[in-house]
Amino acid sequence: MTQPDDIDEVPLGPRPTPRRTSKLAIVGAGAVGSTMAYAALMRGAARTVALYDINKAKVEAEALDLGHGIQFMPMAEVVGSDDIAVCADADIVMFTAGAKQKPGQTRIDLAEATISLVRKVLPAVTEVAPNAVYVMVTNPVDVVTYASLKISGLPPTQLFGSGTVLDSSRLRYLIAQHARVAVQNVHAYIAGEHGDSELPLWSSASIGAVPLLEWQGSNGSSPMTAAVREDIAREVVESAYRIIEGKGATNYAVALAGSRIIEAVLKDEQRILPISSLLDDYYGISDVCLSVPTIVGSSGVGDRLAVPMSVDELAGLRASADAVRAVARQFGF
Ligand SMILES: NC(=O)c1ccc[n+]([C@@H]2O[C@H](COP(=O)([O-])OP(=O)(O)OC[C@H]3O[C@@H](n4cnc5c(N)ncnc54)[C@H](O)[C@@H]3O)[C@@H](O)[C@H]2O)c1
Repeated sequence: MTQPDDIDEVPLGPRPTPRRTSKLAIVGAGAVGSTMAYAALMRGAARTVALYDINKAKVEAEALDLGHGIQFMPMAEVVGSDDIAVCADADIVMFTAGAKQKPGQTRIDLAEATISLVRKVLPAVTEVAPNAVYVMVTNPVDVVTYASLKISGLPPTQLFGSGTVLDSSRLRYLIAQHARVAVQNVHAYIAGEHGDSELPLWSSASIGAVPLLEWQGSNGSSPMTAAVREDIAREVVESAYRIIEGKGATNYAVALAGSRIIEAVLKDEQRILPISSLLDDYYGISDVCLSVPTIVGSSGVGDRLAVPMSVDELAGLRASADAVRAVARQFGF
């Protein structure tokens, strides 16, 4: 029989190197950042979730609180620190740090403060996580994404904005409510700015396999008339204001939208998402970060889809590009 002493004498050899696992870093552990960590953990999106924030007490508390819940989620590790080194070697960085919108403020009102924050923080993050895919969430996200590309010097495939992924989910929710079908059966995108000049791409939208513009009503619902579409479009734009008015921040849906992006990157899903990326001759639109349906995988931004658009939609997209470009120029970008 083998004795414990004999076991001690068996040479163990070198331990195998552990396989590389996925790491998500979230910069900013506020309403958006910490809820995004929660959503990503619940969905098992990453094996390590690192939170970074200048507020030491808050970031440590958020990480501890999340860590206590791991038993009830897919296995993961959560760390939180006010030391940027916590983001080291991340595979994806979600940038959510920044001033939040106050009631009545537009996203553009946040631009100056956010850009100076990005100048300070982003280079330090790219130094410790040079190979990560970077996703800007902080508002005004399109201008911030454009400025971040210039500030970081990262290739435009490696850094993009969360764009209108959230707005498109709001659009789908409202269409689904009107049509009385499951939101998962609605395909529709908001394109353009994540903000007041955004626009729904109605002509390519569908409910089930029915083009939205041909929806005659079903399940007790009515057709998607121009008036209905107008109301829905307005409500998408206004919904963030309504939520901020009511509870001070939007966090759940943006966190889930962020988690969808995280999974698309970490799992190399090649998922079509309306993220905000640097456009180069997209229907003649260049040199601006704007959302259009884009293939997202482990290297970040892939091809943008040549979505068929009506004349009005194309004009709306161009106007949105002009609006975002004008703000970027105003801040020297
Ligand atoms: N793109 C979208 O779809 C979307 C949706 C919702 C909110 N947002 C934006 O996300 C941002 C964050 O919103 P929030 O509600 O979480 O705000 P918040 O105030 O709750 O959190 C911001 C966090 O950033 C931290 N922070 C500030 N300066 C920092 C620095 N220099 N380094 C590290 N951390 C720093 C703060 O300590 C705070 O914890 C805002 O710009 C908001 O407009 C974007």
